[in-house]
Amino acid sequence: MTPTSEPQDMNPSEDDAAVLDSYKRAAIIGGGVIGVSWAGLFLARGIDVVINDPRTDIEDLVRAGLAEITPTLAALGLPAENLTDRLTFEADLATAVADADVIQENGPERLELKQQIWQTVEQAAPAHALLATSTSTIPATAIATAMRQPERLIVGHPFNPPHLVPLVEVVPGESTSEATVRQAKAFYTALGKRPQVLRKEIPGFVANRLQSALFRECVFLVAQGVVTEQELDDIVTSSIGMRWAVAGPFRTFHLGGGPGGLPHFLEHLGRTMEASMWPALGNPSFDDATVALLTDQAREAFGTGTVDELATARDRAQIALMHALNETPQPSSAHHP
Ligand SMILES: NC(=O)c1ccc[n+]([C@@H]2O[C@H](COP(=O)([O-])OP(=O)(O)OC[C@H]3O[C@@H](n4cnc5c(N)ncnc54)[C@H](O)[C@@H]3O)[C@@H](O)[C@H]2O)c1
Repeated sequence: MTPTSEPQDMNPSEDDAAVLDSYKRAAIIGGGVIGVSWAGLFLARGIDVVINDPRTDIEDLVRAGLAEITPTLAALGLPAENLTDRLTFEADLATAVADADVIQENGPERLELKQQIWQTVEQAAPAHALLATSTSTIPATAIATAMRQPERLIVGHPFNPPHLVPLVEVVPGESTSEATVRQAKAFYTALGKRPQVLRKEIPGFVANRLQSALFRECVFLVAQGVVTEQELDDIVTSSIGMRWAVAGPFRTFHLGGGPGGLPHFLEHLGRTMEASMWPALGNPSFDDATVALLTDQAREAFGTGTVDELATARDRAQIALMHALNETPQPSSAHHP
């Protein structure tokens, strides 16, 4: 994912273009925050998209959402004109997936609902279609208990927003076949994403567990009055955040160990970390006083700008960073009919 990690090219190769050629149509189930973002990326990659969502105002919502993310797609170098020319809506789930080469489900995070959706989908979708759920927390194993072909379902968990952030956690369930894992990995790679296949199902997968662990300590430090929210954010972006964009925690500590690398680090600093730091880490709670403190400080730190304005500025900075790291898709590699 970085210049210092395994050599991989984020930009789709000719092989990736060939993979994308076999994905002409996608069904997006659930056109909310994540569904719109996937839809924008699929459309920009030349895949026709049909949206299935019971909301009566879904067409307006999705069109407005796509208009909002179009500048980001363009800034990433993807063809972003006339995206909605290849966008359709279909309220009947079985009809929506009948011709799809890939189905990406982004419905509400409710097990029974996802089970129902996937039961219908597996019966109506073509046999070759890739079946992926964006779920953040529900294992594919649990959703697939209601399926006749559980080997076909896989978690393709994006890091929000999927049209921008490279990572997709690919999490097979107990019955997911190797062929499905390979298919999902090849598809997301061809889209220009950076899929990471997890070797085991675990609640929260990996990226959100890491965020959660770090955020717990962030809340503790602010609640204790050690730093303010703004000061804590500045500490992160000027140290570990910047470092982690180019070398993950293990690589960073391998380098921190000097010539002896990670083994030396573990022997000398790791043991001290375990003995003196880990027991001292905080275990805060969102009680009323803590929530009030965090809310007040957020108001102060993030000013009067709207969340949309702040998100636009953050995304602009992130795209600049991605360009610097050669993590953006090549315009020439985008697949268009
Ligand atoms: N928001 C995130 O940061 C994030 C990140 C990664 C993954 N996810 C996962 O993506 C999925 C969607 O999350 P979201 O944030 O987009 O939620 P959302 O509430 O924005 O969107 C859900 C959409 O599903 C629609 N819907 C409801 N019932 C449906 C049905 N029976 N069939 C089809 N559509 C239906 C809703 O009308 C809504 O538009 C969840 O599984 C979530 O865990 C979310």
